[in-house]
Amino acid sequence: MAYSKTETKGEDVKDAGLEQVIIWLREDLIGELEAINQYQAHIDRIDNEEVRELLEHIRDDEKEHVAEITHLLARIDVIQREKFAEDHTMAQEDRVVSGASNDADEKVATVGNLFGKK
Ligand SMILES: [Fe+2]
Repeated sequence: MAYSKTETKGEDVKDAGLEQVIIWLREDLIGELEAINQYQAHIDRIDNEEVRELLEHIRDDEKEHVAEITHLLARIDVIQREKFAEDHTMAQEDRVVSGASNDADEKVATVGNLFGKK
């Protein structure tokens, strides 16, 4: 059973456009975040140390998955990457901007901005 809210009736996944891939990644991200919360809720209710430690390990794996999907989204979704480049949780004058530039030619080549290029 596929773990996705997206139906792919008759659709060849290999033919999915980048926008569809981004939508699926966002859905996958939701699933990972919900998994973290579910594991944490169970950890908080379990007295058995061995089980709790295993669930903590799995919860932390899910946090790694969140980071991986987030980084992938930042690589392939230009607007999302620009939003990640600024910390919007603090005043603008206190923000640290990394890798953000209005001039595309000034950007340093990274795996991320080379995504899809040959
Ligand atoms: Fe996961």
